[in-house]
Amino acid sequence: MERERGAAMAGLQLRHIPVMLDEVLEGLALQSCGRYLDGTFGRGGHARAMLARLSDSGRLFLMDRDPTAIAEAQASFAADPRVAIRHDNFATMGEWPELAEGGLDGILLDLGVSSPQLDDTSRGFSFMGDAPLDMRMDTSRGESAADFLAMAEEREIADVLWQFGEERFSRRIAKAIVERRAEQPITRTSELADLVARCVGRREPGKNPATRSFQALRIRVNGELDAVDRGLAAALDLLKPGGRLAVISFHSLEDRAVKQFIRKHEGRVQGNRRAPPVEAKAALLAPVGKARFPSDAEVAANPRSRSAVLRVAEKLG
Ligand SMILES: C[S@@+](CC[C@H](N)C(=O)[O-])C[C@H]1O[C@@H](n2cnc3c(N)ncnc32)[C@H](O)[C@@H]1O
Repeated sequence: MERERGAAMAGLQLRHIPVMLDEVLEGLALQSCGRYLDGTFGRGGHARAMLARLSDSGRLFLMDRDPTAIAEAQASFAADPRVAIRHDNFATMGEWPELAEGGLDGILLDLGVSSPQLDDTSRGFSFMGDAPLDMRMDTSRGESAADFLAMAEEREIADVLWQFGEERFSRRIAKAIVERRAEQPITRTSELADLVARCVGRREPGKNPATRSFQALRIRVNGELDAVDRGLAAALDLLKPGGRLAVISFHSLEDRAVKQFIRKHEGRVQGNRRAPPVEAKAALLAPVGKARFPSDAEVAANPRSRSAVLRVAEKLG
């Protein structure tokens, strides 16, 4: 809270506006006495709305890998007997005994970073301003972006920038990073942003030249795609028949993983949309409607929602 107060005084907005809230609630088809997991609590925008729809016998389980988000969850909900809170990666949701014992009627994963994480420049996610090059969502463990850039081979840095950021100048940037670190380690966001800007030839309209590199490093440092794969598999195990999975993605790599996961368990052959579904009894998931996107009004009110895609699926009996 101290950090939030400080940031607020510095003019930062550490609020997070929940994305596609109505669509998520509709997709989860909440039952008042059901058991639900919000695996990405953030600042609790979705969680608050879910809780408002639960009766005294409903249960809401909250997870986030960011200790700041968990502190907020504790402050807001620890006293509510319907709520349980756990600081962890949602990839490990299957290891939460209460979830495994009772199963779940719905799971929400609102992927990526929250506005407070982006706007608190001290976290190192943003190329605006200057801060330690950290980028860890879970600041209690793991290597920072600065650690990664200090240790990784040039080839690996280039691969990360290309695969997770589709950065066309990945090789040039990786080479410049390795040359620079031979003189002095790259430890600040502004150093990296300046270095990338010098390597990137033509700028994409409306985009900071460091956008792709920062996204790529963030995905690598937090193992985001691996977490999505493991989290989806665990979610499928934990859902009861008829339970709903709702996932909001913010970039194409995540959305592709979610889409392929649903398709695989719907019984379609990956990469072949025209292939007939496998036998109905082998299918474990049914997509609920098509992918949904924020309305123009939502994007106007909350520009950060613009790249969101919501997919919902139901576990079959
Ligand atoms: C887009 S925000 C969620 C916002 C939230 N729905 C709200 O309305 O306030 C994403 C949150 O998910 C968390 N997160 C991202 N990946 C995670 C993972 N693998 N496990 C747990 N939390 C994760 C981030 O720390 C961040 O707080």
